[in-house]
Amino acid sequence: MRILEGIVTTIDPSGTANIAPMGPKVDDAMQRFVLRPFQTSQTYKNLKQHGEGVLHVTDDVEMLARAAIGKLEEPPTLRPAEAVQGFVITDACRWYEFRVESIDDRQPRTEIEAEVVGMGRGRDFFGFNRAMHACLEAAILATRVGILPAEEVLEQIDRLATPIVKTAGDPERRAFALLSAYIAEELGKEAS
Ligand SMILES: Cc1cc2nc3c(=O)[nH]c(=O)nc-3n(C[C@H](O)[C@H](O)[C@H](O)COP(=O)(O)O)c2cc1C
Repeated sequence: MRILEGIVTTIDPSGTANIAPMGPKVDDAMQRFVLRPFQTSQTYKNLKQHGEGVLHVTDDVEMLARAAIGKLEEPPTLRPAEAVQGFVITDACRWYEFRVESIDDRQPRTEIEAEVVGMGRGRDFFGFNRAMHACLEAAILATRVGILPAEEVLEQIDRLATPIVKTAGDPERRAFALLSAYIAEELGKEAS
């Protein structure tokens, strides 16, 4: 088992889609996986009420960054999933429609076992790129402001700027700028 950093769509009781980066534990077969959402997340709340969703594999780090910090001003195009009640991000490289099998709420990071009941492929994955990985790390950092010490967050963001300068395209540059600004703002609030 290893972690796959993806994007999960779920729906709330009114049927509205929620889009959030999540890192489930997966194996190569991808017939089932284990999601580990914090109980404070909307993804957790939605899956408790409606145990179906869609896990997406994408190289769109700008969307991932925006979803991580709740700034999806222009949400991605969605279409209804086929095997579950939920939504597929149309631009994703691959997606896995899943049904919740069990929920273990005993720890703050709940373990949710999911069975894959449908999958699809969209477009090719771009491939490795250091700037994309830096954006992924920066997005995780952004969701941990207030949990990690401020100096650690700043030191890590500083280090991540190098692969951005060396390897980024416009989407990665935009994602990193957005995340850096968000982190600075959140740390400012923390300090005041
Ligand atoms: C790459 C990546 C992986 C993440 N994995 C998880 C995870 O496994 N569980 C979790 O609770 N949050 C995870 N997060 C943080 C959530 O995406 C973030 O808290 C988000 O705001 C939750 O959205 P929601 O409240 O709409 O569900 C991850 C963030 C990133 C950038």
